[in-house]
Amino acid sequence: MEIPESVLKIKKYLTDHEFPEQVEAVVILGSGLGDFASAIDDSFSIPYQQIPSFPETSVQGHTGELVTGKVAGLNVIAFSGRFHHYEGHPFSTTVLPVHIAKVFNAKKIIVSNAAGSINTGFKVGDLMVIDDIIRPFQSVSAKPSTPFRYNLYPIARRVREIAASIGMEVQRGTYIYVTGPNYESKAEIRAFRILGADVVGMSTAPELVEASRLQIPAATISLVTNMAAGVTKNKLDHSEVKEAAEARKDDFARLVTEIIRKL
Ligand code: HPA
Repeated sequence: MEIPESVLKIKKYLTDHEFPEQVEAVVILGSGLGDFASAIDDSFSIPYQQIPSFPETSVQGHTGELVTGKVAGLNVIAFSGRFHHYEGHPFSTTVLPVHIAKVFNAKKIIVSNAAGSINTGFKVGDLMVIDDIIRPFQSVSAKPSTPFRYNLYPIARRVREIAASIGMEVQRGTYIYVTGPNYESKAEIRAFRILGADVVGMSTAPELVEASRLQIPAATISLVTNMAAGVTKNKLDHSEVKEAAEARKDDFARLVTEIIRKL
């Protein structure tokens, strides 16, 4: 079984409630980036708790609703609120958006997240296209499967070209996944820098690996919401995430719209 049976039931519920049979893209909105939903035309949304078999989210800055409508004239589904492993969701649940993309025949997934910058050349508010990921101890796996490879570089290159085509400067780099919910120690951040990571976050890796298993092209954007532990003297807290997201929400929406149109 490529995806769980329950996902087909969710699709049935959604298509019985105004969702289209097929979409161009599924978008996962990271912490604080839920505002993208307002860039969706003719939008219609259902709170997660109303959808049978849907998990619940609880993190600040995530509203927890599934939105459909059109972006650049194309059908999309957006997850406003994601399922983090640190909230107690098994990896098989964290990848629900990817399974939804599969049953709605989405041609691509756009995965966004808030991240802390390890790279001292980046600053708060930067958007970064993820070129590659590091999963310490390879702990991120959604389903038993035969071995498979993933390679984010070709799509990351296209996303950078798309950003350049609208005159938007983006960083590129490697995302290191941590399970959270605690932020990292300074020593961990120093170690991650030696490993080659540019940003750190508590999501995205499970979704990317599952998208790759199901061969759905995935574009990924990190928003740098803070410098990681020990990079500056600032204390880390969740309000920074919201501030940085607020400042870049229009650029983020422009970039995601362009990716939906062109990728
Ligand atoms: N660490 C881990 N996850 C994060 C961070 C961070 O500094 N910022 C936003 N998500």
